[in-house]
Amino acid sequence: GFMRELKGIDVMELELKHKLGIKKVIIVPGDSDESLMVKGELGKACAVCMKKLLSGKNIIAVTGGSTMAAVAERLSPELTQKDLLFVPARGGVGEDVQNQANTICSIMSRNTRSKHRVFYVPDQVSTDIYESLIKEPDIHEVLKLIKSASMVLHGIGDAITMAERRKSNPEILNMLESSKAVGEAFGYYFNEQGEIVHKVLTIGLQLENLVGIPNVIAVAGGSSKAKAIKAYLKQAPASTILITDEGAARSLLKG
Ligand code: BG6
Repeated sequence: GFMRELKGIDVMELELKHKLGIKKVIIVPGDSDESLMVKGELGKACAVCMKKLLSGKNIIAVTGGSTMAAVAERLSPELTQKDLLFVPARGGVGEDVQNQANTICSIMSRNTRSKHRVFYVPDQVSTDIYESLIKEPDIHEVLKLIKSASMVLHGIGDAITMAERRKSNPEILNMLESSKAVGEAFGYYFNEQGEIVHKVLTIGLQLENLVGIPNVIAVAGGSSKAKAIKAYLKQAPASTILITDEGAARSLLKG
């Protein structure tokens, strides 16, 4: 019955938390590979979790992706009492507009009646452009905000899916395949051992910045993302909270 199902999920949350070595795991029923509604449930679970964690003044750094877009839809003015500022975690112009962190942050701020900053920087930049962009006063200011974030909300992607979505060139795709990349987060690609096999150069939050940030929430579901989630979490700070679905959780517990 229903209660048995609930208990099943409670047990899975604890088992998975131990297995992955992170602070907390929250599982929603279903599999977002099979139903769009489940992605909405991931969003709702993230909104509830944020409400519990936020207090006082908060700068919230957010990545792009369809899962983060689902989170944005579920945020409500309930969070208005808190002083919130949403900022894109990294440059992300290059993704479809609805999946870009700029769009997502603006929806998050609208839904919570709070503030946001835009960060119009490409998803991938060359070293030369990188060097000159970080000297721009506007960009410098947003970078300072990102580094002082009290919360990070981010997605995790399947490596090849993300490389294709970023229209990476064939050499990069081949390299990711030969180095057996399975997961991606923040522009970093990981193999099953959690080793970084490739990194997209962009401006904003870098993996090493996560350590100092009090609340890090990863939201990713679907059984097809199980390997990606496992790989990334080998690198993630132990303070990470994972919000996932039953589909991903069952494969993670099997593997
Ligand atoms: C991208 C982020 O915007 O979204 C990636 O840059 C992340 O780091 C990806 O992995 C997740 O996308 P989705 O649509 O699977 O939630």
